[in-house]
Amino acid sequence: MASAGEYPRHVSRALSTLIDEDAIGARVGELAAEISADYADVDELVLIGVLKGSFIFLADLSRRMTVPHRIEFIAVSSYGERESEDPGAVRLILDVRHDIGGRHVLVIEDIVDTGHTLAYLMRLLSARLPESLKSCTLIRKPDRAEVDVAIDYLGFDIPDVWVVGYGLDYAEKYRTLPRICALER
Ligand code: PRP
Repeated sequence: MASAGEYPRHVSRALSTLIDEDAIGARVGELAAEISADYADVDELVLIGVLKGSFIFLADLSRRMTVPHRIEFIAVSSYGERESEDPGAVRLILDVRHDIGGRHVLVIEDIVDTGHTLAYLMRLLSARLPESLKSCTLIRKPDRAEVDVAIDYLGFDIPDVWVVGYGLDYAEKYRTLPRICALER
């Protein structure tokens, strides 16, 4: 059995670090400062975390923000798993609990890959007439973009590799790794 703070050898062997814990922490701090400055005059910002992958990023980012905010969650899943379906189609499976009409809203994603999920969410939420609506993602893969979606706060651009850790999974594994790793196939 591995001792505290270590990961089992069979897990770590398949992974190579892309963004280490210090780099993530530093960038999350910068984003929190930038967001806090931009919303300094807002009574209460609504952060909407997109489940599941954003939960760790959201937890760290929100604790480093200095503006009052509330936390909501939303969850989607992609349709398009059968060949006959639209590969970019997205389905809402869990909605926020409170009305966002007239509120300042910031959507928090772990990763923007093709962009379909974020584009769908921004359309969905903007129809509810928030006072403002912006997006924040820790990671973006520019080489995978299929739709043009605005990202207001961006942590890192990465190449087209499968990444895990810091909330991101492969078959529900690796979400709690403290760093972001490329999963070697
Ligand atoms: C990931 C990620 C985004 C979406 C991005 O979620 O959290 O929501 O994919 O992909 P796109 O830009 O191609 O639409 P995933 O479906 O892996 O679910 P999870 O967050 O529950 O792991």
